[in-house]
Amino acid sequence: MPDPKRGREPADRTSRRSFLRGGLALGAAGAGVAAGRAVAAPAGTASPNLPPGVPEWSQSLGEGVVSRPYGRPSQFEADVVRRDVEWLTASRQSSVSFTPLHQLEGIITPNGLGFERHHGGIAEIDPAEHRLMIHGLVEKPLMLTLEDVKRFPRVNRIAFLECAANSGMEWKGAQLNGCQFTHGMVHCVMYTGVPLKRLLEEAGLKTNARWLLPEGADAAAMTRSVPIEKALDDAIVAYAMNGEALYPEHGYPLRLVLPGWQGNMWVKWLRRIKVGDEPWHTREETSKYTALMPDGLARRFTWAMDAKSVITNPSPQAALHRKGFTVLSGLAWSGRGAIRGVDVSLDGGRNWRPARLDGLVLDKALTRFYYEFDWSGEPLLLQSRAVDETGYVQPTKAALRRHRGLNSIYHNNGIQTWHVLPNGEIENVEVA
Ligand code: MTE
Repeated sequence: MPDPKRGREPADRTSRRSFLRGGLALGAAGAGVAAGRAVAAPAGTASPNLPPGVPEWSQSLGEGVVSRPYGRPSQFEADVVRRDVEWLTASRQSSVSFTPLHQLEGIITPNGLGFERHHGGIAEIDPAEHRLMIHGLVEKPLMLTLEDVKRFPRVNRIAFLECAANSGMEWKGAQLNGCQFTHGMVHCVMYTGVPLKRLLEEAGLKTNARWLLPEGADAAAMTRSVPIEKALDDAIVAYAMNGEALYPEHGYPLRLVLPGWQGNMWVKWLRRIKVGDEPWHTREETSKYTALMPDGLARRFTWAMDAKSVITNPSPQAALHRKGFTVLSGLAWSGRGAIRGVDVSLDGGRNWRPARLDGLVLDKALTRFYYEFDWSGEPLLLQSRAVDETGYVQPTKAALRRHRGLNSIYHNNGIQTWHVLPNGEIENVEVA
């Protein structure tokens, strides 16, 4: 694992450069193959694979179909992986890995790259022996197999999941050098499943039903209290992500999806939903996932994730290699609706210019933004600031601290600053 304090990834840069070369070579190499001539590499050329040579991969047949029954990325993309920060947690079973945001495009996180957060390791569940129980304040308790769940009408929904602790290490100042580590506890996939409302209708809610207690089948048996309003609004019991069954690390075979709300409540390996008339005040909503305010009181039930954004490129793990035309790219999201706009600053928040939103701009989903500019080698202080459809503007870290003090970990949606040095290297900093 690279040291996140430094966050440099030479392998990343090498593969990117060779990709550029490959792209430029395409036309010439194709012509050589069509003519059926093996062209020798000219003297002084580093690789015979470069034009006007005929690359080795063009000189023999490749692997046949189904040589990879389940596809995987090119071997040259081997450094596009989740990473962890070893000193952050005591064990790998109760830990977190981070999404490589700086190496991804668009808004959908591939199934093998979304961050994972487990409290008791990954449960490997045999779906034939898994059940979802719905009980408590219901007319007809249910014990559902996976097949039963799949017989209900389905919905598809793209949603981001952000851990409430995302950027938590940054409360006390700039810590980790890379957006993978500062902002990588977020992913966004398309879920397929059954609206929870539909399952609750099947069970028949009693009139005093107010709260739900979803529980996981992992060793942590995680539980959270969820208000009935959310359950009847847009909650989903999901069994697929990005078109295939959930991956074990994301809750196979069933997980709760609560669009826009803190990831901790999205119970994985879902085995039980108890319906009650008041919250249970479990560990995850009392000693954890609350925030001690300066006046000594604690914020609790902070469910929705406020609007946030980060520049993913350039960033400390993705330095600027060339002057001139530069594509700045980033992600924005809000747990309270769609992103209305993103502004970008090159000078630490003195001047702001509107970024360009591109692709799908969806309610409670990651949104991709771009800002193109000419870089002449001067130092930059890059920032992005999201505004959501409620009109809420992403705050500065200083404003957050003024309001919430220094005891928080969770819900840090403050504006991130990347310092671009004249040599193109980039550091995580804070501006006063
Ligand atoms: N559900 C169970 N059963 N056990 C867990 O440890 N971790 C929670 C939540 N659901 C957890 C769980 C936390 S803290 C987060 S942030 C999200 O799952 C992470 O989801 P992911 O691993 O799919 O990214």
